[in-house]
Amino acid sequence: MKDIKILAIESSCDETAAAVIENGRKVLSNVIYSQIDLHTLYGGVVPEIASRKHIEKINPVIEQALTDAGVGLKDVDAVAVTYGPGLVGPLLVGVSAAKAVAYAAGLPLIGVHHIEGHVSANFLEHPDLEPPFLCLIVSGGHTHLVIMKDYGEYEILGRTHDDAAGEAYDKVARAIGLGYPGGPKIDKVAKEGNPKAIAFPRAKVDDCPYDFSFSGLKSAVLNYLNQAEMKGEEINRNDVAASFQAAVVDVLVEKTMHAAKEYGFKKVALAGGVASNSALRAGMKEACEKRGLTMIYPSPIYCTDNAAMIGAAAYYEYIKGNFSGLDLNAIPNLRLGERK
Ligand code: KG4
Ligand code: ZN
Repeated sequence: MKDIKILAIESSCDETAAAVIENGRKVLSNVIYSQIDLHTLYGGVVPEIASRKHIEKINPVIEQALTDAGVGLKDVDAVAVTYGPGLVGPLLVGVSAAKAVAYAAGLPLIGVHHIEGHVSANFLEHPDLEPPFLCLIVSGGHTHLVIMKDYGEYEILGRTHDDAAGEAYDKVARAIGLGYPGGPKIDKVAKEGNPKAIAFPRAKVDDCPYDFSFSGLKSAVLNYLNQAEMKGEEINRNDVAASFQAAVVDVLVEKTMHAAKEYGFKKVALAGGVASNSALRAGMKEACEKRGLTMIYPSPIYCTDNAAMIGAAAYYEYIKGNFSGLDLNAIPNLRLGERK
């Protein structure tokens, strides 16, 4: 069969990204323009600023992806784009650019769910990986425990009732003065702290063994900080970071292991920005090794938002002939497994 090359575009939050992917697995190019420095000034992503920056960067990033891959549009078989979930303005920039390229070059268009992209990032470096497998998706906007039953087919076992794991990292980081984005910063300072110094709560969600809740943990950290301030006590930032992180990791690992046992999975994958977290990787690895499970996770560059993962997910839609019309729209609250 002929090799299928997909030009993929991702702009759902604060990364403007394009990539060329061959047969859903081989990365020919992966260009990411990160706006993080811009948003750091404001302590979080400002949607209006993100949209404007995407408009400025989208065409150069697409051109760079084609150049790096050594291909022209004539060599490409389809154009894929994230169309949800995410911020509506940023999503619209990518969707409009993808539609324009697809129309101008006479190529089919494939709308991709952002979370499917994160899960599919695992295919890029694991050529033998095939569904079904269990996947814990932990990003700035989402915390989902899912079964990837087949390509494009998911069963959601659990999700967060409030904050996403990455969101909790970002909020706690802000409270202890680390700034945005908090995840990598907490990861770093936690290495110097004692994870047992403070007993933060491990939240359970009644009757939902696979659901998550992180807002109670976040409040517990804020209370701890307030009380220390009222008593005039100095806080140890590294201990707070390490103890908070231990509470997050414990819950993520425990629920994932519970699901692996209950559903009989031998393969457990991680996905999303927080999948880069060193404590989560270590905790999950240890738990998997104890139970004889295989743990799979993408390199950090494919954990954070990128377009290579979108090209990986799009390939299986291409094979099935699931193309989108030129009326494809951005859907900020698109649900996993839903196709429009
Ligand atoms: O997947 P992603 O790039 O964007 C979304 O789709 O949300 O995830 C971004 C999130 C941010 O909350 C960031 O703080 C977190 O991932 N993150 C981390 C680490 N690297 C990024 N959290 C914990 N430890 C890390 N090393
Ligand atoms: Zn993401």
